[in-house]
Amino acid sequence: MSIQLTIKHLAGIVSEEDILRQSAQASECNQALYNGSREGNDFIGWVGLPSSITEEQLRDIEDTAVELRTRCQAVVVVGIGGSYLGARAVIDALSSSLDWLSAKREHPVILYAGNNISEDYLSELTEYLKDKEFGIINISKSGTTTEPAIAFRLLKAQLEKQVGREEAKNRIVAITDVAKGALRSLAVTEGYKTFVIPDDVGGRYSVLTPVGLLPIAVAGINIRELVKGAVEIEQATQPSVSFEYNLPAIYAVIRNELYKRGKKIEILVNYHPKLHFFAEWWKQLFGESEGKDQLGIFPAAVDFTSDLHSMGQWIQQGERTIFETVISIREPNRSVRIPHDDVNLDGLNFLAGKRVDEVNKMAELGTRIAHVDGGVPNVLLEIPELSAKYIGQLIYFFEKACGISGYLLGVNPFNQPGVEAYKKNMFALLDKPGYEAESRVIKERI
Ligand code: PA5
Repeated sequence: MSIQLTIKHLAGIVSEEDILRQSAQASECNQALYNGSREGNDFIGWVGLPSSITEEQLRDIEDTAVELRTRCQAVVVVGIGGSYLGARAVIDALSSSLDWLSAKREHPVILYAGNNISEDYLSELTEYLKDKEFGIINISKSGTTTEPAIAFRLLKAQLEKQVGREEAKNRIVAITDVAKGALRSLAVTEGYKTFVIPDDVGGRYSVLTPVGLLPIAVAGINIRELVKGAVEIEQATQPSVSFEYNLPAIYAVIRNELYKRGKKIEILVNYHPKLHFFAEWWKQLFGESEGKDQLGIFPAAVDFTSDLHSMGQWIQQGERTIFETVISIREPNRSVRIPHDDVNLDGLNFLAGKRVDEVNKMAELGTRIAHVDGGVPNVLLEIPELSAKYIGQLIYFFEKACGISGYLLGVNPFNQPGVEAYKKNMFALLDKPGYEAESRVIKERI
């Protein structure tokens, strides 16, 4: 069993012929991800990554995870963007929704820092950790990103104060570039356990490196199954696989054909709140990869049915510039039946005895039909269940689709030059040494 893609409901906007017409170009873009014939070819290490992960690497990650699990009640993942979203996406998707409240947890609670600069957040986090045995996984490829650097400064000082410098070294893991950057220098000086982010894998494609795998393993999730799922889709999407069977290539073509016809916004839809951060990961993957050169679909996401009571109105009847991609889970991991009620004041006895998921599925189907009727093309992606293997499949599916889609659009899907603009202004406003000229210019504007 694997991912299923249903593309019958494109609201008459893109036909099968339109899709097939792009097959040669899509296959050529897929090929470029292997032979490096296009822009960004220094960042295509993720393409063959799943199948190249060795037993030794997995064991090193698992052993480090056991070490942290043994010593810590809480582990703080410090990182931003591609250095944290993948881990959070997988951990949230595969953990109990109320895991963080459970007193019987067998693994540390995973917390996140360095993905914002909110003083309240950092204060509340450090306050919470005051009486906890905690550890830190500090992730930064460049090793110089401001948000995680500030968080790490605070947390490192707190940990050393609480357990002493020697024990702190046992609880801090650094994941960074093999040689460059401040985090590498610090890790070497302090003697932290380190893992490497490969040079040719960008942050948003790094979830299947230690960046994602270590926090995921600490959370008690089977990383071998995750990698196995990714390998399955890696193999099913090789350039030798013809376009008709290459699902990420088909999805990439559909997105681009819809975009050409004015569908500028793609909404990723889920019906399980634990997929919220999977959508955040997806938004970064596509947003940072395609949004450049004044081009690119705007990736948005909704959690249904919650957002049917907020964004549902807009989607049904607002400007017709959107399409939806629905992630559907065929079978939930748990079973809950709706009870009978003698009084039946809510009139819901017609549902008594049915599984909650049956209602969720009818909400899903009813919504898809309503939105297609309202002129919103619909792409359906189904996985059999929420498990490590199928999340691994989805990760590689979207990564591959994103690479192909970016090339179809004509952009370099592996850089993010636009991210620098805010940093430059922030440093100028904060009087960072070296930014004197920029400081003068920006301060005259305010
Ligand atoms: O995808 C990317 O490259 C970015 O989102 C980075 O991951 C993010 O900016 C964090 O960078 P770094 O890992 O260098 O701290």
